[in-house]
Amino acid sequence: MNSRLTHLECTWCGKEHAHAQPIRTCPDCGKVLFARYDLAAVKREVNRDALSGRPSDMWRFYELMPVIDPKNVVTLGEGGTPLLRARNLGAMLGLENLYIKDEGLNPTGSFKARGLSAAVSKALEVGQTRVTMPTAGNAGGALAAYAAKAGMEATVFMPKDAPEANKKECLALGSNLVLVDGLINDAGRISQEKAQQEGLFDLSTLREPYRAEGKKTMALELAMDLGWRAPDVIVYPTGGGTGIVGMWKAFQELRALGWIDSPQPRFICIQAEGCQPLVKAFHEGSKTAEPWANASTDAAGLRVPAVFADYIILEVLRETGGTAIAVSDSEMVHAMREMGTAEGVFPAPEGAATLVGLRRLLDQNLLQGSETVILMNTGSGYKYMDLLSAP
Ligand SMILES: Cc1ncc(COP(=O)(O)O)c(C=O)c1O
Repeated sequence: MNSRLTHLECTWCGKEHAHAQPIRTCPDCGKVLFARYDLAAVKREVNRDALSGRPSDMWRFYELMPVIDPKNVVTLGEGGTPLLRARNLGAMLGLENLYIKDEGLNPTGSFKARGLSAAVSKALEVGQTRVTMPTAGNAGGALAAYAAKAGMEATVFMPKDAPEANKKECLALGSNLVLVDGLINDAGRISQEKAQQEGLFDLSTLREPYRAEGKKTMALELAMDLGWRAPDVIVYPTGGGTGIVGMWKAFQELRALGWIDSPQPRFICIQAEGCQPLVKAFHEGSKTAEPWANASTDAAGLRVPAVFADYIILEVLRETGGTAIAVSDSEMVHAMREMGTAEGVFPAPEGAATLVGLRRLLDQNLLQGSETVILMNTGSGYKYMDLLSAP
């Protein structure tokens, strides 16, 4: 198997850059870089039906992944998560084809494992041994795990009010943990300063091109599990938006490969009422999102006041006919129990937020009963025990 990565392309100015170097954002304009592949070669060399016979982790899509030498792949078995038919919730809501993609089953209990497996692998390939990152919580645990596996030194900057589980896992997995009195954007500033002072490689999401490549495998799996077609709707809890960007990119690649011919799904961006920069920008018709002042929500992953890839996400929502919805913390916590009771899936509050958002879509008549709808449960509820009061 050969990765068919060819180069990096700026999503803003379109300039192309080499991938065989430590690189983060576009050296010319500072915006998000996308990994580009020789899709004609992939089309020639790979039969999509053979992919289901490969081991079920996310590296089964190796040709569409950015690591050239397989020896550099740092894996803990991420990906291959179940696409569960949510028949009970579907019956309650009048939806025949409702599914939950349960990302809580990844190593370190969230979908962040996919992005960090890809980013740490590529950092290793371009010679990095000391990495750093700001995180709302789950990404920090994932970085700690993959850095440990790779034998790298990791320093994680996390808001001091992040979930206890995230702090403890970072320490147990051997990373240096620095608690920051502020939000993820403050942690990001400090992480970048440290990176410059101490020569660390900063893996902030979408400020390097490869975490999105890991997250894109969620869409590759969805298409494969649905018999090589895209779902109609993906409901996604959005912080920095790497998952939306990655999945949208994946469906573009799948269409270019001729592996699917269905249109892009409608992407539905769910944010918390206390931090909804994308929801506001979407409904105001803006192309970029203003930072959200005094951001606050119990769903740590959604506490991202300034969104670096705002221009991409807003375009994806508009281009695909999607929308953006804000939900309250109490609704999310209630929906954790509801999803758990109906489907046996114990979601993170971020994942449960998708169920609240789904109800809003139905209330607004934005869904048809026969459409294939995916709720992305991005993490495990086991990390958020403090949110659930004792019986
Ligand atoms: C459980 C969970 N869901 C969703 C998100 C938001 O992810 P993204 O950055 O892809 O928007 C996070 C980010 O920390 C998270 O931990």
